[in-house]
Amino acid sequence: MNKILLKPKITIFIFDSGVGGISIYNQIKKKFPEIYFIYLLDNQFFPYGIKSKNCIFKRCIKILKKVSYQYHFSLAIIACNTASVSSIPMIQNYFSFPIIGVTPVIKYSINKTNNGVIGIVATKTTLEHYSIKKKIKYFSKNYIIETISSKKLVLLAEDKIQGFNISLKKIKKIFNPWYKLKIFPDTIILGCTHFPLIIDELKETLPKNIKFLDSKIDIISKIQKIITNHKFLFSIQKNFILYTKYTLKIVKIKKYLLNQGFNFFKKFKIK
Ligand code: DGL
Repeated sequence: MNKILLKPKITIFIFDSGVGGISIYNQIKKKFPEIYFIYLLDNQFFPYGIKSKNCIFKRCIKILKKVSYQYHFSLAIIACNTASVSSIPMIQNYFSFPIIGVTPVIKYSINKTNNGVIGIVATKTTLEHYSIKKKIKYFSKNYIIETISSKKLVLLAEDKIQGFNISLKKIKKIFNPWYKLKIFPDTIILGCTHFPLIIDELKETLPKNIKFLDSKIDIISKIQKIITNHKFLFSIQKNFILYTKYTLKIVKIKKYLLNQGFNFFKKFKIK
């Protein structure tokens, strides 16, 4: 008798404070079109980037607990640099499903720079985290590493997705400290998942020929590894968005998100 091979359907639970995780979601979807997604937009707790790492860690635990009680999924992705640096790897001890995160690709950037000056733009909480500080210190022996933390850039990305025109002048002002440097970074790490959403505006504003590196570089290989090493039995087979607070912003971004392949929206209370 012929064996019936059932191709397991995989659902990924992915979350961020806002729309930033969509930049990660789009990459995964492109690579693995057969995967289903539950995307949680934690807009009630937005922004993450100015909150303490302990506060973010507790929030991540709450989110993963509550969503995993209610929905079956195969693995979770913390599609936010701030939440990932604040919770990974410790958070894995609390859950049986695999959890992966995204962090600024500092090591990867050293092979990309020609002028030896690397810029990192991320949130305050990410840049102040000891693991990031340690990496910066280590690579600063041989490279110049400049950092900018910016909440404004996160807000500009959220504005763009709501359909607002965003001001290039405002972007330029954020990067002002780098214009005062002897050498402008030729490689910029986008250490926040919101920033790839405004890549066109960044390219238009900043000097030409800059290499922009974001965290999606290693996420695909992490997912691939998990998919090959785990057996997934059952998961919910739908693409949908959960949001934690009903606001005008949710109304405004709905159309954009539905265009990204999600079928419906639902309020999901965390507290
Ligand atoms: N998208 C988040 C990140 O990658 C930050 C946004 C926020 O500050 O909430 O760090």
